Amino acid sequence: MMENARHCPALFMQLCTTTRGDYALCCQAQQQLNPTPEWQEWWNSDEINHKRKQMARGEWPRECSGCQQAEQQGRGSLRESYWRNYPRESIEQAIAQWQRTRRAPDPISLDLAVGNTCNLKCRQCNAEWSSAIAAEQGVKVARPQAPQEWYDTLPKEPLHTVKVQGGEPMLQPRLWRWLRSIQRPELTRFEMVTNGTRDPAPYRDAMMRFRERVIFVSVDAVGKRAEQLRRGTNWAQLVQNVKQFQSWPETYTALICCVYRDNIEDIAELCEWASTHKLDIIWNILEEPDHLSLAHVPAAVRNRLPMAQLPREVRLALGESL
Ligand SMILES: C[S@@+](CC[C@H](N)C(=O)[O-])C[C@H]1O[C@@H](n2cnc3c(N)ncnc32)[C@H](O)[C@@H]1O
Ligand code: SF4
Repeated sequence: MMENARHCPALFMQLCTTTRGDYALCCQAQQQLNPTPEWQEWWNSDEINHKRKQMARGEWPRECSGCQQAEQQGRGSLRESYWRNYPRESIEQAIAQWQRTRRAPDPISLDLAVGNTCNLKCRQCNAEWSSAIAAEQGVKVARPQAPQEWYDTLPKEPLHTVKVQGGEPMLQPRLWRWLRSIQRPELTRFEMVTNGTRDPAPYRDAMMRFRERVIFVSVDAVGKRAEQLRRGTNWAQLVQNVKQFQSWPETYTALICCVYRDNIEDIAELCEWASTHKLDIIWNILEEPDHLSLAHVPAAVRNRLPMAQLPREVRLALGESL
């Protein structure tokens, strides 16, 4: 049991796709790995098996530095959350099968980045995730939308979790067509990370088919500051959309905040706003690009931060000892 805890369930349970049309270890470890178009080839490749073996030895693959740092700083990692989210028995069985055969069972969850179509140009984001940033930079590094046929190639139902990201998931009509075609949605948990700019009402029926919903709305600051940092956001509209999610049954709605050099002074106000609106905040501490990370918060800014009002995870990420 303890030995297995070194593993990451993501590498045994869930297929993570990228806007490039290939696969990644998870939504946090997005580096380009094996550019094979077939997920089966990727899932049993030497490359992913090498990462699984590294973890079995208690080593961290370089792509997993986000979790490594989070665990070393004692602020909870994505890997730990996967251990909580999947039935322990299923994880243990998948690892045991892989240990016997060096092949993992087919993934039971999907973490889908389906294309970079996005209406925002957030300061910390990049062309792989946002077509608006790609257009501004004049680069083409991702596909705007996955082809409809691609959805038919995904692992088969029943699925434990389907998590959708974008670009912006509510700007992906083919994704919603596919979600509506899922045969056994009552067995599946639906998760979405959205920029909160779109009215979710037209997609409500598609989301309500699932067993439960977990909606993360990306918010990096409050009001005008939110609009400055996540360029293209209309704060009043975003608040309306968040309230709409909150009014749905069996729907856990939370904020996800990317914490970085440019919004560290906005965090205390965001915490207060979220608490008033009964919203939890998931803290996503930025690692890349390095120049925007917390390591580059100027000393003068750091000295005036209201530490007591900052959440534990953020204080730990700032290197504070608690
Ligand atoms: C890339 S977006 C895709 C989904 C959707 N467009 C949104 O903004 O919620 C997913 C999450 O990644 C975060 N993000 C953007 N750039 C990042 C970076 N450089 N490092 C870590 N997270 C980042 C966003 O704030 C958002 O919460
Ligand atoms: S909304 Fe999401 S994908 Fe679009 S630019 Fe912002 S973080 Fe990137």
